[in-house]
Amino acid sequence: MRAVVFSRYGDENVLELMERPEPTPADGELLVEVKAAGVNPVDWKHREGAVRNDRPFPLGMGWDVAGVVRSTVPGGPAVGEAVYGMLPLPYGGAYQDLCVLPASAVAPKPVSLSYAEAAAVPLAALTAWQALGTAEVTAGLRVLVHAGAGGVGHFAVQLARHLGAHVTATASAHNLEFLRRLGVDEPVDRTTADLAAGEPFDVVLDTVGGLVQQASWRLVRTGGTLVTLPESVNEAHRLPGITAHRVIVTPDGEALRRIGELIDSGAVHVEVQTVLPLQKAAEAHRISREGRVRGKLVLGL
Ligand SMILES: NC(=O)c1ccc[n+]([C@@H]2O[C@H](COP(=O)([O-])OP(=O)(O)OC[C@H]3O[C@@H](n4cnc5c(N)ncnc54)[C@H](OP(=O)(O)O)[C@@H]3O)[C@@H](O)[C@H]2O)c1
Repeated sequence: MRAVVFSRYGDENVLELMERPEPTPADGELLVEVKAAGVNPVDWKHREGAVRNDRPFPLGMGWDVAGVVRSTVPGGPAVGEAVYGMLPLPYGGAYQDLCVLPASAVAPKPVSLSYAEAAAVPLAALTAWQALGTAEVTAGLRVLVHAGAGGVGHFAVQLARHLGAHVTATASAHNLEFLRRLGVDEPVDRTTADLAAGEPFDVVLDTVGGLVQQASWRLVRTGGTLVTLPESVNEAHRLPGITAHRVIVTPDGEALRRIGELIDSGAVHVEVQTVLPLQKAAEAHRISREGRVRGKLVLGL
């Protein structure tokens, strides 16, 4: 089968498309024919060596898949069923014709989505789902989502709105109208806004890290919650009275089933900026690394 792999850590040019042996499912795992693979920042962080695992090179790439079940397990989806799911971190292997992943990590592909759109969902939407759950977001809470137009951000704003929260989200000027279309109550230009001058938030979701996490502490009300995704909670900037969590996404087929229902009901829109062929995986990494993607990038197989 074809697979995008890499044999040393480095820039996008270390990615190679080559023939590899078909993977063999372990106990509890499905074999899935991959129709599309989602691209996430963790992919290029893995390629650069910031996210490592204990397997030998060449290493597989990617965590998001949508495809067709080729072999299954008792109680699992039927052979031939269309599914989408997330491979468990830290072992990638989605940018390839066939992949293996736990049956518990997949759900039926939302019927309203193409395979490419479905592959855009798992890791980013589960991250948003688990972050909002960790912060116990409920109706009426004031929630700030940084980078609301990004992969995680565009799911987070819609899921928070669905929960009944009042949602503020940051983006560059060209993405503010997009945020409005997603239902964001207060789209904010991240280059000009002074969020600290406004009313504090019950929950802030930091999808950027660094200076954004640092500034976020002052945007949370006393008793509120900061959730950070790209990096650990920076104790040097901790403010008293604020609960802070770093969420690390985990596969969850049951949550994906519920997210799929929201997608099929029209409550959640999936934004795919670009679908590139598998041969263009390096280009997808280059674009993702620039940090300006609206919604998601996907590789079509
Ligand atoms: N802990 C976990 O389990 C977990 C899971 C998923 C993701 N993550 C991490 O969370 C981060 C976001 O992931 P993602 O998939 O949403 O990334 P993404 O889709 O690549 O994010 C792109 C968006 O980021 C915005 N952006 C870029 N620089 C920014 C800045 N300095 N301030 C505010 N916004 C900025 C851009 O918006 P504009 O163009 O509108 O400015 C763009 O729409 C990544 O670091 C990723 O590795 C962690």
